Amino acid sequence: MAQTNNLSWHSELVTRVEREQLLGQRGRVVWFTGLSGSGKSSLAHALNAKLHAMGLLVYTLDGDNIRHGLNKNLGFAVADRNENIRRIGEVAKLMVDAGIIVLATFISPLRAEREGLRHILAQDLIEVFVDCPLEVCESRDPKDLYKKARAGAIADFTGISSPYEAPLNADLVINTAAAPLEECVAELVDFLQIAPTGENHV
Ligand SMILES: Nc1ncnc2c1ncn2[C@@H]1O[C@H](COP(=O)(O)OP(=O)(O)OP(=O)(O)O)[C@@H](O)[C@H]1O
Ligand SMILES: [Mg+2]
Repeated sequence: MAQTNNLSWHSELVTRVEREQLLGQRGRVVWFTGLSGSGKSSLAHALNAKLHAMGLLVYTLDGDNIRHGLNKNLGFAVADRNENIRRIGEVAKLMVDAGIIVLATFISPLRAEREGLRHILAQDLIEVFVDCPLEVCESRDPKDLYKKARAGAIADFTGISSPYEAPLNADLVINTAAAPLEECVAELVDFLQIAPTGENHV
């Protein structure tokens, strides 16, 4: 038992590998980053349903939902955005340790915050850049957020009054302006090498 500052880390009797064997899958985080309206939630929830139907244990962490609970004390200034992502990364790490496939949908606009995630999750992180031009996202505007941001009603809105730094080395880039949702989900399933039955590499 390692001990620092009177805090102890208890070793487990059941390991991650044993939990993963029980579930027949490998814990992983598929992290969707992209502009508001790019399709992160649509993709993740459709992928979640598909993988669930294949018999995999999947859980989606969705931006707005987390801000209702765990991170409800955080705003959108850079320090709060970083803390938002750090906490989610740590939660996702625990879920991965439980053997779960986590789909995380957060705009996560800054390279530095996504690099922070890499430190927390290391090789368990699969970064998916949901690439969609701002004009297309704005024309979709599923939550009327762009309308409000253009009217000045939302401060620090990514793409309008706050930067989005596109990933330089994403594991996968999905262009949601170029193909319908079902095709994008099929591309994700292919990339994750999930067979409909039998051996699953995720
Ligand atoms: N190929 C596609 N993949 C995903 N979404 C698509 C695609 N084509 C069109 N859409 C539409 O784009 C919109 C994307 O909205 P969605 O809420 O998923 O975005 P988001 O990235 O989660 O935004 P936010 O950051 O605000 O939560 C939906 O209305 C969806 O139907
Ligand atoms: Mg969303």
